[in-house]
Amino acid sequence: MAVSIDLDFPSVIVGAITFWLLVKIMNRPKNFPPGPWGFPVFGCLPHFLFTRKRSRDVFKDWYYQYGPIYSLKMGSAYVVVLNSIESIHDALIRPEFQDRPRLDFLLVRKGEGIALGNGKVWQEQRKFVHQIFRDFGVGNASFEDAIVEEANFPTDALLQSDGKVINLEHHISNAVSNIISSVSFGQRFEYDDKKFQCILAKFEDIMQPSILRFGLSVFLPFTQYIPFSGSTKIRESLKTYMNFYDEITIEHQAKFDVENMKDIMDAYLLEIKKSNKNERLDVFNDDNMFWAIADLFFAGTETTTITLLWAFLFLLNNPDVEKKVKAQLNKVVGRNRMPRYSDRPKLPLVEAIISESLRLGTASALSVPHTAATDSELHGYTIPKGTLIIPNFHVIFTDENKWDEPAKFYPERFLDKDGNYVKRDDLIPFSTGVVDSVLGSSLQGWSSSSSSHTSCRKCPSRFLTGEGRPQLKESMESFTDQGSTKF
Ligand code: HEM
Repeated sequence: MAVSIDLDFPSVIVGAITFWLLVKIMNRPKNFPPGPWGFPVFGCLPHFLFTRKRSRDVFKDWYYQYGPIYSLKMGSAYVVVLNSIESIHDALIRPEFQDRPRLDFLLVRKGEGIALGNGKVWQEQRKFVHQIFRDFGVGNASFEDAIVEEANFPTDALLQSDGKVINLEHHISNAVSNIISSVSFGQRFEYDDKKFQCILAKFEDIMQPSILRFGLSVFLPFTQYIPFSGSTKIRESLKTYMNFYDEITIEHQAKFDVENMKDIMDAYLLEIKKSNKNERLDVFNDDNMFWAIADLFFAGTETTTITLLWAFLFLLNNPDVEKKVKAQLNKVVGRNRMPRYSDRPKLPLVEAIISESLRLGTASALSVPHTAATDSELHGYTIPKGTLIIPNFHVIFTDENKWDEPAKFYPERFLDKDGNYVKRDDLIPFSTGVVDSVLGSSLQGWSSSSSSHTSCRKCPSRFLTGEGRPQLKESMESFTDQGSTKF
């Protein structure tokens, strides 16, 4: 018996669109790495929304399922996640994987900085900031004095708290931002300065890149135009920072003295003047200066603060390690002076504690994303132009196959049998390849070692063992992808 189906025109259109959508959804780029299937329009985003798991753990589950290189679709973007040192290194060393995604929704002001810059502008800004970090930063005694002095503020706050609960995050993020501010603007701010507090709150708003708040703007660009969305909030915060920055720039321009260069802004202003003469304002100009300095605050404050907070928390919960490190500090530094950077080689346990805090705290769990600048090939897979590349440090630092008891705070894993510090190739908190964030590693390493030395050395043990101290398990569980370490 023949079956007849009546197809009217609207049904054919709906059918065709559904078929086309399904083909689009199922059809991955040819020879693309394996990975989870996504939903129409939203791709894999719902996997993050409808789970109580942290995003980093969702990414980790996929690593166990699909292996060291996998792919997914997030909204309209193709994403490749790299979960091994080899793949991260092999990708990031190549120019075609060094670009950053364009985040135009952030651009309250034109220009490119370092963290989100591309091509020649990125390369030259980076080289320049690197150089001035050397001039004003690492190895410069007066800057080291500023760090040591700043480290006293959180320590004194702890001492004055007399055993009562205080919000250490407030004191540490103030100290870290002040250090970055000293090197950028030649200026520090009091911890109760209302304007500075407002700026710090705005930084926190900007730097909470949860999949929900930040990711939606990137993966579903239309959400940028929704009032009260994450992007609107980020733009508002950036505008407040811009006003603060503009006031400082005007002061610097008025007092500019080529014979007395005090900070990064002075050095950049000089570079702009030189570029003006050579008519080469494409790299060094006012807009790029704004972003280059903003990058130092955005990239430096949250990461360093989080790492230091984790280090404190780990020590609070491991009094045996705390006792040992105090003994080492007393022996090497003594009680009559502050620790200096030059003491570092003689303080292997401090070095190991910082490494272990960078590993287990993983301030930058999914690093900073890159983009494929051209159609490329990686470990046998085809990576189309525009694919977002995410190095997954969380997997690399907590992989059971690489680390013994990875969930345990155990700084001794970075010491040899004689107690010497041993660098491990599988700890790359500042990334690897050409984009290796040497900027961060030098300043952060320096500031965190100074401040944790100072605090450990000064603080009586009652702070570290007292009742009501934050518990490691709860803090680990309450740690969100927004980088919140409040305890
Ligand atoms: C614990 C502290 C820190 C960690 C874990 C950290 C980690 C990172 C990571 C993973 C990247 C991405 C590198 C890549 O794209 O592959 C990065 C980039 C960057 N970091 Fe840091 N960082 C820290 C502190 C700092 C500090 C203190 C500063 C400056 C004051 C800083 C400035 C930068 C800049 C400017 C970039 C962009 C570099 C580029 O694109 O060339 N970071 N950081």
